[in-house]
Amino acid sequence: MPKPIDYPTVHIALADRSYDIAIAAGLLGSDAAWAQLPRAHAALIVTNSTVAPLYAKRLEQALAGVYAQVHTVVLPDGEAYKNWETLNLIFDALLGHGCDRHTVLFALGGGVVGDMTGFAAASYMRGVPFVQVPTTLLAQVDSSVGGKTAINHPLGKNMIGAFYQPERVVCDLDTLVTLPQRELSAGLGEIIKYGPIADMAFLDWIEANLVALLAREPQALAHAVQRSCEIKAWVVAQDERETGLRAILNFGHTFGHAIEAGLGYGAWLHGEAVGCGMVLAAQLSRRLGGVDGAFVQRLSALIAAAGLPVRAPLLDATDNAGRYLELMRIDKKSVGGEIRFVLLDGPGRALVRAAPDALVRAVIDAGCA
Ligand code: NAD
Ligand code: GLY
Repeated sequence: MPKPIDYPTVHIALADRSYDIAIAAGLLGSDAAWAQLPRAHAALIVTNSTVAPLYAKRLEQALAGVYAQVHTVVLPDGEAYKNWETLNLIFDALLGHGCDRHTVLFALGGGVVGDMTGFAAASYMRGVPFVQVPTTLLAQVDSSVGGKTAINHPLGKNMIGAFYQPERVVCDLDTLVTLPQRELSAGLGEIIKYGPIADMAFLDWIEANLVALLAREPQALAHAVQRSCEIKAWVVAQDERETGLRAILNFGHTFGHAIEAGLGYGAWLHGEAVGCGMVLAAQLSRRLGGVDGAFVQRLSALIAAAGLPVRAPLLDATDNAGRYLELMRIDKKSVGGEIRFVLLDGPGRALVRAAPDALVRAVIDAGCA
C-alpha cells in the first residue's frame, strides 16, 4: 500500500482535465507521489543526457512498481534541440517499443524536455497521457504547469505546439540541489514575473527572501514554487487556451523571445531573456503611463540581484531596433502583423496592448548594451 499523501499540492481546476501539482523534497523516492497514475502496460520516461545520469534510475525504480514495462529515451540537452528532429526521437522510441495508445509519458527534466514530451503526448496516436516531473526551478514554477507544449522553429520560439494538460505534476525540490546557479537564476526570472502581473505581496516576499532563494534554502524554495504554481493555477483555470487573461503570463516574453531567436536558441537562457524582457516591457509601460520610473528601477534592481541580465543584447549592427521589431512580429500574440505587448497598468496589474513602433524603438535603443 502506498504511504498516505502528506505533501502540499496545488490544484489546477479544469473540469475533466483537472490535476494536482505535488510539491515537496524527496518525491522521486516516495511511493505516495506515484499512486493513482493512469493505468497502462508501459511507461516511457523522456529525459536528456544531463538529467538521465542524475535522476532517471530513481524514476525508473519508482515506476517499475506501477507499469509492466518502463522504457527511457535520452534526448540531447539544450534549447537548440527543441525541434522536429529531436521530437522524432520520442516517436522512434514509442514505436520501437511497440507502445500502445495507453502508454504514459513521463517528462523528466526542465522546460525543454517538458514542452517536447507534452507535444509528443498530444500527438502520439492522437493523444496519450503524460506526467510532468520537472527538475529545474523554471519548470517547477512555470513550464510544467498549464498544458502549453511546443517546439521551436528557426523563425520563432514555441511556434509549433498544442495545449495539452498533464495528468499530474510532481515537483521534487531535492532535484534543485544539482541545478547550475545560472539555471537557478533563470528560474527566478519566471518567479519574479508573477509579482508585477498579479501579486505585489509576492514581489515584496521575493525581495525579502532573495538571498535565501539564491542560497537554495529549502523553505524559501518551497514557498516560491508553491506560490508561483498557485498564481499560475488561478490564471490557467480562468483561461486555459489564452483567449485573454492567460497572456499576462507572457510579461517580458515578447522581447525575450526576440532575444532568444535573434541570438540563436541557447545563447541566452529562456529565463535570462525573460528577465531582460521584463525590464524592457516595464520601460515601455512607463512610457505609456502604466508605472513610474521608481517602479521600473525597483523591478530592474531585483532582476539584476537575481543574477539576470538587464541590458538587452545587440541583435543587428545597422538597424538593431528594426531587427527586434521584425522578430517580435512573429509572436503568437501578434494580430495581422501588429505586435501585442503584455504591459503593466500599475504595479500588480497587466494588460495586453499594441504600442507605437517609435516608442518601442526608443525603449530598445535605450535598453541595449
Ligand atoms: P532546460 O530544460 O534547457 O533546462 C536547463 C538546463 O538544466 C539543461 O541543461 C538541463 O539539462 C539541466 N537540468 C535540468 N534539471 C537539472 C537538475 N536537476 N540538475 C542539473 N541540471 C539540470 O531549461 P528550462 O529553463 O528548464 O526551460 C526552458 C524552456 O521552457 C524553454 O524552452 C521555454 O520556452 C520553456 N517554457 C515553457 C513554458 C510553458 O508554459 N510550457 C513556460 C516557460 C518556459
Ligand atoms: N508561460 C506562459 C503560459 O503558460 O501561459
